[in-house]
Amino acid sequence: MRGIVLAGGLGTRLAPLTTITNKHLLPVYDKPMVYYPIESLVRAGVKDILLVTGGNYAGDFLRLLGNGKEFGLSHIDYVYQEGEGGIAEALGLAEYYARGQKVVVILGDNIIQDDITPYVNAFREQGEGARILLKEVQDPERFGVAEIDGDRVVRIEEKPSQPKSNFAVTGIYMYDDNVFDVIPTLTPSGRGELEITDVNNAYIDRGQMHFDYLNGWWTDAGTFESLHRATNLVKADRDRKDG
Ligand code: G1P
Repeated sequence: MRGIVLAGGLGTRLAPLTTITNKHLLPVYDKPMVYYPIESLVRAGVKDILLVTGGNYAGDFLRLLGNGKEFGLSHIDYVYQEGEGGIAEALGLAEYYARGQKVVVILGDNIIQDDITPYVNAFREQGEGARILLKEVQDPERFGVAEIDGDRVVRIEEKPSQPKSNFAVTGIYMYDDNVFDVIPTLTPSGRGELEITDVNNAYIDRGQMHFDYLNGWWTDAGTFESLHRATNLVKADRDRKDG
């Protein structure tokens, strides 16, 4: 099993905070944002981690994370994404690292309360295919949204204006290594990116998509609202544990 943390992009929704740094290096309470997804992987026993980043501040990740000693790792791998090709393109850059393995992919701005170990273990046991984690939200139009029929996800729509459910597809994705054959078949979306939602729909079309509902809170942190919310959630949790 390989872990892939996607931490590229320009973070334009957070300008001017992102004018002189990468979004994933911004603080969420007392740690840089990217610490949280790395911790989620390590806690689930995924210790071979590749970080995909890009832009002008890519070198700062190396300065911050080094070999990952802070997380109990002996090394972290890095790859550089040129331009703004989207989440699926970024994942495609991991092929050399993860071919022949299953992957757990996590977006660098996704912060979750839950320990993802049970979901990762279920994925380890499921054989081939993919697995996603869903979470009920108030503002589904901001996300990939799952259309659910009984115990199946039948379609995912990226940022629909009229969402078919309130279940967002969180930024934690698990794939077998066929994902690296799916990505080259994609075409750019309206926003000019290779969409992870198209990857997920390809697995749905093959009847190979599994899912779990995420317990506990989940947030992204890519807008002022959600960054603030992330900080509050992390702090409230910390206070609970310390108190
Ligand atoms: C991305 C995905 C979306 C997913 C979200 C989770 O959106 O495209 O499907 O629900 O991450 O954070 P983005 O943040 O790139 O707009």
